Amino acid sequence: MSSKDIDWSTLGFEYIKTDLRYVSIWENGKWDEGTLTEDNVVHIAEGSTAIHYGQQCFEGLKAYRCKDGSINLFRPDQNAKRMKASCDRLLMPEFPEDRFIDACKQVVAANEAYMPPYGSGGTMYLRPYLIGIGDNLGVRTAPKFMFSVFCCPVGPYFKGGLTPTNFVISEYDRAAPNGTGASKVGGNYAASLYPGKIAKDREFSDCIYLDPATHTKIEEVGAANFFGITKDDRFVTPLSPSILPSITKYSLLYLAEHRLGLKAEESDVYIDKLDEFKEAGACGTAAVISPIGGIQNGDDFHVFYSESEVGPVTKQLYDELCGIQFGDKEAPEGWIYKVK
Ligand SMILES: Cc1ncc(COP(=O)(O)O)c(C=O)c1O
Repeated sequence: MSSKDIDWSTLGFEYIKTDLRYVSIWENGKWDEGTLTEDNVVHIAEGSTAIHYGQQCFEGLKAYRCKDGSINLFRPDQNAKRMKASCDRLLMPEFPEDRFIDACKQVVAANEAYMPPYGSGGTMYLRPYLIGIGDNLGVRTAPKFMFSVFCCPVGPYFKGGLTPTNFVISEYDRAAPNGTGASKVGGNYAASLYPGKIAKDREFSDCIYLDPATHTKIEEVGAANFFGITKDDRFVTPLSPSILPSITKYSLLYLAEHRLGLKAEESDVYIDKLDEFKEAGACGTAAVISPIGGIQNGDDFHVFYSESEVGPVTKQLYDELCGIQFGDKEAPEGWIYKVK
């Protein structure tokens, strides 16, 4: 698809082939210099550990077109650090942070024609990934690795955007108590497909996972973190070793405290104490801030602020976060990296 065929206003969260992606290969203890390529098909050995043993990880971040025409990347250093943590957990070599950021910049600049314009509601989603490749058979770490970044213009991840949608508690777990829940690795997402389908078949946006040890506390909202605003104005988001440490979540913790003057904390969110919250939402790079209308838990359906309207605190957080990302509000030191 050529950039001129894109209707920015109807963009969803779908793959659109862009012109160039970045690829670098690790072999004999070092990464090569990396290159941009037009080829969007990955040719790898049939014995690659990424295919058989899930030795792979990925990231997700966005580029934003600003009013003045410049392009912002939001906290790519944090994605580089999280990818390093995923690599450590899966015995893969890290891709250096400065090169990670440079690769993201190169990919956005090379595909600038696909950048959604300021004000269109669209953004450019970047997908860095690192996979074990090369000839192999047994369960062991790969002899070679590939790091790549591609990008796609995207619109909202959950259909509602800022209109609340409903979620259902899953009886399945996405991660084990001491497993890989905190790493951004494909296995967690493969495990989430079936519970996600059950939720969507029931017309929910997605499912909510409880903590795998006790099934009493909220952990993740599909592929996003949970947050709630309590009736006494605290911003609360779950603290757990088995959830993905969301960069959006940590940004909102900061903004809730320093820009909105709320108390902000990571703590347990018990499923039988949802009455403490006046508003709730899902947050993430793709989800941005998606208000939660209600949560179905067995036969019980709990509504937060409203099933049809975003709550005022959630809206304030959304305006603050997006204002920073699109360059309309002053960013905390070090949050924005300019592509151009
Ligand atoms: C399982 C899961 N939780 C939370 C998030 C949100 O993380 P971030 O804000 O870094 O995008 C993601 C990714 O977007 C995710 O896949």
